[in-house]
Amino acid sequence: MNNKNVSRKSTVKASSDIALIKYWGKKDEVLRLPENGSVSIKLDGLDTVTSVEFGKDFKSDELSIDGKNIEINSIEAKRVIKHLDRIRGLAKEKGLVGYNQFAKVVSKNSFPKSTGLSSSGSGMTALTYAAAKAIGLELSEKELSILSRQASGTACRCAVGGFVEWLDGDTSDTSYSKTIFKKDYWDIRDIVAVVDYGKKKISSTEGHTTAGSSVFFEIRQKNIKQKIEDVKKFIEKKDFSSLGSLVEAECLEFHSILLTSNPPLVLWYPGTMQVIQEVQKMRTEGIECYFTINTGFNVHVLTLPEFEKQVQKRLSNLSLVKETLVAKVGGKPEYLKE
Ligand code: DP6
Repeated sequence: MNNKNVSRKSTVKASSDIALIKYWGKKDEVLRLPENGSVSIKLDGLDTVTSVEFGKDFKSDELSIDGKNIEINSIEAKRVIKHLDRIRGLAKEKGLVGYNQFAKVVSKNSFPKSTGLSSSGSGMTALTYAAAKAIGLELSEKELSILSRQASGTACRCAVGGFVEWLDGDTSDTSYSKTIFKKDYWDIRDIVAVVDYGKKKISSTEGHTTAGSSVFFEIRQKNIKQKIEDVKKFIEKKDFSSLGSLVEAECLEFHSILLTSNPPLVLWYPGTMQVIQEVQKMRTEGIECYFTINTGFNVHVLTLPEFEKQVQKRLSNLSLVKETLVAKVGGKPEYLKE
């Protein structure tokens, strides 16, 4: 097989997601097999667009993110290059011409990165889709989800669209994501309250390694399968109150684990608490909305279309909120025309 006539460049737009049931802890660090399955919603509006071009004249891999050239020895660049090497390895196995060429990667996010908004999920998914296409690999959605997973757990889910379940699996081939409901199944909105733009001090990758040190981790694992079933049932029934209550409880359980890990991870900022209290207040006034937070300080507030404007206004008016971003349920990654 050869790929002489295939374009060596591809550009992909991938959306981030918000986990309703969180992925926390890995049973296999190298393969990135999670301790438990997770469920998320893709977020159209929190997107990464990445171009990957392979070329025989390139002397090394090059990476630019949000207009800045990233130093090739930085942790960020090394993670990208490791993934490019994985993809080059697959191309070599398939006997594709130019499998060993260096790549130029240019990536742009529509939202602040490294602040707890899963930019590694959308970023690594876009990288996987674009690099695989540019190098000439023909992979199924399942294969792309498995490949994305090895770069970032969240990317395993971002590789598919709509309402997503990541099956934890015991082997690399059985740990992948699938769409459980398509994006048009239910119109949910996510208003993201940005309370800080600074890079979070602990990455999720580091945090995962201490998950098991919390005394609550074992209890979480006992109940998580049932929680996943419940969340899927509430989505199927479009029962927003039950879904929102479960999602908030899950967020608080997840942060209880962070707080009681060794070393403890205290990630919230004063603005995080201000948003939580406003969400609780809005609910007493009949405005249905629920919060959830990943490993960071910025807050996702889930609501229904009829409350979107009110929720956004209330959150924007808070003294510690710097910006609000609105997302709808997103689809699968898209190849863009050059
Ligand atoms: C709290 O996917 O960022 O957001 O696999 O090391 O890249 P790596 O970790 P990452 O972890 C995400 C953790 C979370 C929960 C979630 O999104 O499920």
